[in-house]
Formats: sequence, structure tokens, C-alpha cells
Amino acid sequence: MTLSSYGDGVSRLAILGGTGAQGFGLALRFAAAGEAVVIGSRVAERAHETAARVRAAVRGASAEGRENVEAAALAERIVLTLPVGGIEHFLEQGAAQLAGKIVIDAMVPLTVKKRVAELEPVAGAPSVSELVQARVPSARVVCAFKNVPSDELQDLAHPVPSDVLLCGDDELARREVAKLVEHIPGLRAVDTGPLRLARYVEGLTALLVSLNMRHKTLTSIEIVGLERKRTAGAA
Ligand SMILES: NC(=O)c1ccc[n+]([C@@H]2O[C@H](COP(=O)([O-])OP(=O)(O)OC[C@H]3O[C@@H](n4cnc5c(N)ncnc54)[C@H](OP(=O)(O)O)[C@@H]3O)[C@@H](O)[C@H]2O)c1
Repeated sequence: MTLSSYGDGVSRLAILGGTGAQGFGLALRFAAAGEAVVIGSRVAERAHETAARVRAAVRGASAEGRENVEAAALAERIVLTLPVGGIEHFLEQGAAQLAGKIVIDAMVPLTVKKRVAELEPVAGAPSVSELVQARVPSARVVCAFKNVPSDELQDLAHPVPSDVLLCGDDELARREVAKLVEHIPGLRAVDTGPLRLARYVEGLTALLVSLNMRHKTLTSIEIVGLERKRTAGAA
């Protein structure tokens, strides 16, 4: 199925799996930054409900809900916040809707064993981001937001205290995603380089989630030694 966009000149940002914790948090932050967001779900009704929650939380928000493949078709930039177990099924139906577009991958293949988070191997690729890139070679995949906790994203009253490591093989796409990141108060985009580094970013999330469980807190990352550049509202 191919849908054309509305032809209204608005560049939309679709968030697939946007009914979940991470997708909803990103939807709130992007809507607050003035982006027109399209919430994706396997069930259109759930997407409509979540879009309504975004509009209720963010005054003037542009948010609508669609089934995942339709959401991707409507948007020029697509955020992947599906559980890793769902990506293959989505790609079987929706890969064509990612072709040539900026695809922001926030997925992490985690499993928790005895209160320690570990990476689950992804079949056929060293990271989820590389899996998506291999399945849709023309997609402009950028790994981002993998170390940012959903609770911090959803708390609109506070800036998000984190760096966002950006990896991808398309430098212009990394720059575009960096601009998006830095429209969210508190976040700093860190250009990390090629997509093959995504595997380490995913590993860092396993470490952070393990720390969260051990210390009953919420951790994220800040890289020291880089030029300081934080958005307004940062601590
Ligand atoms: N939570 C965090 O703090 C955090 C931080 C960094 C990265 N991430 C990554 O972001 C992704 C989403 O995390 P989350 O905590 O938001 O997860 P989640 O709430 O479990 O899932 C997100 C959404 O995905 C859909 N979904 C569930 N099972 C699915 C399947 N088998 N196939 C397709 N869609 C399915 C559900 O929406 P519908 O039922 O409406 O389709 C659900 O609302 C994960 O890959 C995670 O590793 C999360």
C-alpha cells in the first residue's frame, strides 16, 4: 500500500510504536517543539487515543494517529520506537515507506536476567540500527535517543538531562536529526559518526538500565571533553 502525503507542504514526523512509553515521550517533546507528529500503532484506534493525549498535554500540538504503515507513509521522517521483536514484521509490510526517508532508530534489543540488562543478539546484524539499514538500504538511518529514559521525556515540566549519541552513515541526516534533538530542552546532540557504532550505543543502554535497577534511579549519559552546547532550560 502506498499513501501519498496530504500535499499540504507540512513535513510530518511519524513515531511508530508511538503508543508506548518511549514513543509517547518523544511525541510529547516533538509536539512541544512544533513538529507535526503522527502516532503509529498496530491498531489505528490506539493511535488516535494517544494522539489525543498529546494534544491534551501540549497546547496547540499537531498530532494525529494512524496504523503504523500508514503513519510512515504520511511522514518524511520516521522514528522507530517499536519493541525489537516487532521490527521484522513491520518491515515485511512497511519497508517501502521508509525508503529514502530519515529513519530515527531508538530501539534497543534488551533482555533482563536477574536484575541485569543484557543485549539480545539481533539476527543478521550487530545492532538494530544496522538491521534496519540492511533491510532498507536507501533509508537514511540515524541511531538516536537510545540512552534517553522515557520517564524523562514524558516529564514536560523539566528539561531532559542527557546527551543523544547520533550514529549514521548519512552525514546530512545526522545533522538534521541533531537539529531535532536540540529543539528538546536539555538534550545535547553528539555526532558520533558511522552507523556501525550503534552497537555500542545499544550496549550503553544495557549498562544504564542495569544501573537503574541496582540504584533504583534513572540514569542517562553525558560525554565530557566536548565543547559545551546545551539548549535553553538545561541544568
Ligand atoms: N522505555 C524507555 O525508557 C526506552 C529508552 C530507550 C529506548 N527504548 C526503546 O524504545 C522501544 C520502545 O520501548 P517502550 O518502552 O516504549 O516499549 P513498549 O511500550 O513495550 O512498546 C511500544 C509500543 O510498541 C507496540 N508493540 C508492542 N508489541 C509489539 C510487537 N510485537 N510488534 C509491533 N509493535 C508492538 C505497542 O503499541 P501498539 O499495541 O499500539 O501497536 C507499544 O505501545 C524499544 O525498542 C526500547 O528498547 C525505550
